[in-house]
Amino acid sequence: MARMRTKRHLPERMERAHEYWFDNPSDNKGNWRGACSMPSDCELWLELGCGKGKFATEQAALNPDVLYVAFEREPSVILAAIEKSKELGLKNIFFVKQDIGLIEEFFEKDEVDRVFINFCDPWTRQNKPKRRLTYRDFLTRYKTFVKPGAKLAFKTDNTELFDFSLEEFKISGMEVSDVTYDLHNSEFDKDNIRTEFEQKFADDGIAIKRAVARFPG
Ligand SMILES: C[S@@+](CC[C@H](N)C(=O)[O-])C[C@H]1O[C@@H](n2cnc3c(N)ncnc32)[C@H](O)[C@@H]1O
Repeated sequence: MARMRTKRHLPERMERAHEYWFDNPSDNKGNWRGACSMPSDCELWLELGCGKGKFATEQAALNPDVLYVAFEREPSVILAAIEKSKELGLKNIFFVKQDIGLIEEFFEKDEVDRVFINFCDPWTRQNKPKRRLTYRDFLTRYKTFVKPGAKLAFKTDNTELFDFSLEEFKISGMEVSDVTYDLHNSEFDKDNIRTEFEQKFADDGIAIKRAVARFPG
C-alpha cells in the first residue's frame, strides 16, 4: 500500500486514547474478555489488518455485545482507527499494534469466535504467496485459537489472491460458502460493511470478491 504520512504528535495522541490499546497485549492471552471488561461469555471477533478502522468501528457499533479486537501494524493508520473509536465512544473495540506474524502470542485455544480479513496485501507482484494472510500456514496458525467451526470472512479486489485463497481454505479442511466475484451486485451486499479500500476499489469500478470459510468443527 502507499506509504502513510507520519501523523503529527503520534505518541501523545496514542496516549490520549490509551483505553483502546494495551502496553502488553500478549498479557491478555486467554483473558481478553476480562481485560476488556466484557462478559466472560461474549463473542470475540478478530480483524487482521484493520487499516483506518471504518469496518471495525461499524462492526463494533452494530454488535455492542461482541468484543472486537483489531490488529494493525502501521502506527499512523492504527491511530486513525483508535481515534475514530474514541470519537464514537465505543466500549467494545480494542486495538493491537503488532505484526500478524506474531498472532499466536496473543490468543489462547478456543478464544476467538470469528475472523475478518479485508483487502490484505496480495503479494502477487512480488510473487510471495507464503506471505498472504490466507496461505495454509497462516490458516493452521489461526486454528490454534479459533473455536471449532468458527467462520473467517474474506474480501479482496484481487482475483488471483481470491482464487488462491479459495484453494488454501479447501486444502486446510475449511468449508467454503457465500462465494461471490461481485459482492456489491450480489445477494450478500445487504449486510455488507464497506472498508476504506473497498470503497476506493468500488469507485474505480473494480468488483469485490468475497467468501466465508468455516474452520473444521
Ligand atoms: C491494503 S490495507 C487494507 C486495510 C483495510 N482492511 C481496508 O480494507 O480498508 C492492508 C492493511 O493491513 C496492514 N497489514 C498488512 N500486513 C500486516 C501484518 N503482517 N500485521 C499487521 N498489519 C498488517 C497494513 O498496514 C494495512 O493497513
